[in-house]
Amino acid sequence: MEKNTCHASVTTNRSALQVLSSENCDIEILEKGKTINDFLDNKIKERGSTGNDLPFYVANLDVVFKRHLLWLTHLPRVKTFFAVKCNNSPAVIQMLRALDTGFDCASKGEIQMALSLGVTPDKIIYAHTTKPRTHIKYARAHGVNLMTFDNEIELQKISQYHPKAKLVLRIAVDDSKSLLRLNAKFGARLDTIERLLERAEHLDLDIIGVSFHVGSGCTDSSAFKQAISDARHVFDLADSMGFQMRLLDIGGGFSLTGNCKAIFTEFAETINGALDEFFPPDCGVEIMAEPGRYYVESAFTLATCVNAKRVDTDPMAKHYNGEENSSVKMVYYINDGVYGSLNCLINDPAHTSVTPYLHKAVDGSEQQYQSVIWGPTCDSLDKIIENFWIPELEVGDWLLVDDMGAYSISILTDFNCFERAQICPVLTAETWYALNRF
Ligand SMILES: Cc1ncc(COP(=O)(O)O)c(C=O)c1O
Repeated sequence: MEKNTCHASVTTNRSALQVLSSENCDIEILEKGKTINDFLDNKIKERGSTGNDLPFYVANLDVVFKRHLLWLTHLPRVKTFFAVKCNNSPAVIQMLRALDTGFDCASKGEIQMALSLGVTPDKIIYAHTTKPRTHIKYARAHGVNLMTFDNEIELQKISQYHPKAKLVLRIAVDDSKSLLRLNAKFGARLDTIERLLERAEHLDLDIIGVSFHVGSGCTDSSAFKQAISDARHVFDLADSMGFQMRLLDIGGGFSLTGNCKAIFTEFAETINGALDEFFPPDCGVEIMAEPGRYYVESAFTLATCVNAKRVDTDPMAKHYNGEENSSVKMVYYINDGVYGSLNCLINDPAHTSVTPYLHKAVDGSEQQYQSVIWGPTCDSLDKIIENFWIPELEVGDWLLVDDMGAYSISILTDFNCFERAQICPVLTAETWYALNRF
């Protein structure tokens, strides 16, 4: 579990705290002294006794809370709107609602989901620059007024279907330092801005701000500095044309895992410096961001079970090094894979490998075997890891994978109709008390 090293106070939405209580939602609040690991062990025990071998996630909402505190400590000027696309589980949305964040929704379905969980329309930004007309109409009908755009045809659609919308112009920025690049697909080039602003003026549309996304899994904080400076340029142009510019949205891209470990504070310093330079606190511009990965990446641990096993032998391997067992390769088939929760292995350039670990206790002296682990489907692309040296597993043993909260459940498919991993959301008593104190 992550250590909480920050001391910010947090605003919670008191009525939402009731939503989090066990009568109103399926978040389990642990008894005092019980840990998330105890919860996970119990779930696996329960499954063993009932013969349930389906995969599940432990959604550790303490992590979401700690990430929120960390954000408030280091980026106090920047309000967060969680990117629902990253993890659309109701428990995460409810937790963040309790923490009084906003939500970035990219479609009618995501807006519907957020509204159905009690999020109010003023807490939603419809952050997709190319929207189906029916989705724009839906947003209007449900009071979702803040939305992004990056081209003239979108402006025309908005003027027809939601003329009173508050518009945020998404600009294309340098995303070359990010693991997942977005700016070839979204964002207006700076040399097209003037024309877009003129078009909006002509259509009597209300542009109130600028947004950008430096790419997901950003590894270089200078990308934010340059993008904030670019946004200033657009603000100046729009201000000079009479638009009342008052919102800067610095998008997503934040992560604390893999290559990005430990650089969040450096990112925050660069962003705060750039904001103070280009958008000083007294300039009247509200600053927001759309973090997805940041909040949830480390909150979910996947528990998968060995469905099947094959022991392969390679007579040549024995011949080469003469070691006992070197010729044996263990082949395991688990109940979740790249078409399910582990789709990041093929879909997410910021998460291209996972290292499962055994739930059962391992004695250091146990024989290790070269192993390969496959997912459950009929496709040979569905491989989790190979050349993996672990003690021998049996059918029914459990493997755990940490850091599975981002772009996992929201992307998985129904290929071969294997059951989706159930989500078991949990909060420790300590975090529950902390939430209630605010
Ligand atoms: C418009 C928009 N906002 C926010 C996000 C979330 O990005 P991240 O998960 O890197 O924080 C994305 C991700 O694709 C996005 O497209």
